[in-house]
Amino acid sequence: MTAKIAVAMATMAFGVAVYLAPVAATAGQAASLADGVYTTEQAARGKSVYDDKCSVCHVDDLSGGGDGMAPSLAGRFFNKTWEGRTVAELYAGTVMMPPGEEKTVSDQERIDIIAYVLSVNKFPAGAAPLEADMAKLKPLKLSFTQK
Ligand code: HEC
Repeated sequence: MTAKIAVAMATMAFGVAVYLAPVAATAGQAASLADGVYTTEQAARGKSVYDDKCSVCHVDDLSGGGDGMAPSLAGRFFNKTWEGRTVAELYAGTVMMPPGEEKTVSDQERIDIIAYVLSVNKFPAGAAPLEADMAKLKPLKLSFTQK
């Protein structure tokens, strides 16, 4: 293959990728947190479960440091710890919560709490609720610097 043809083909492939990208982003659940991956109703439901089951340790404003010296779930320290990690990891981090009483919280309540945590961390709400489906949560990267 001559260099000229290789360049032409690479340019074509690039063109196709750019053309397809917006289609992929709108298909199914939004692929980026910036697009809004939960609803305000869901975050409100999550808040009431959080206030009931989590706030004694993680504190009302998610700043942490209550019973058991629980880590913060919002703010600078949380941002630093979770930058670049995924919503799937964050969801997994709630599965053993509340410690010793994890069976008192359903999967739906957990994902609602995640929606609430995202809202407090100022990620935008959108049209569809977040689902407790690891395959859909994995592509959602937490980035606090670009939103
Ligand atoms: C009795 C106190 C207590 C309660 C209640 C509690 N937590 Fe925790 N949580 C902790 C402590 C302590 C840690 C840090 C140690 C650990 O990860 O086990 C923690 C860690 C976490 C983490 C970080 C896990 C990680 O992988 O870094 C998340 C997320 C979390 N809790 C969410 C929740 C949610 C959601 C609830 C309510 C359903 C909840 N917690 C209720 C004490 C608590």
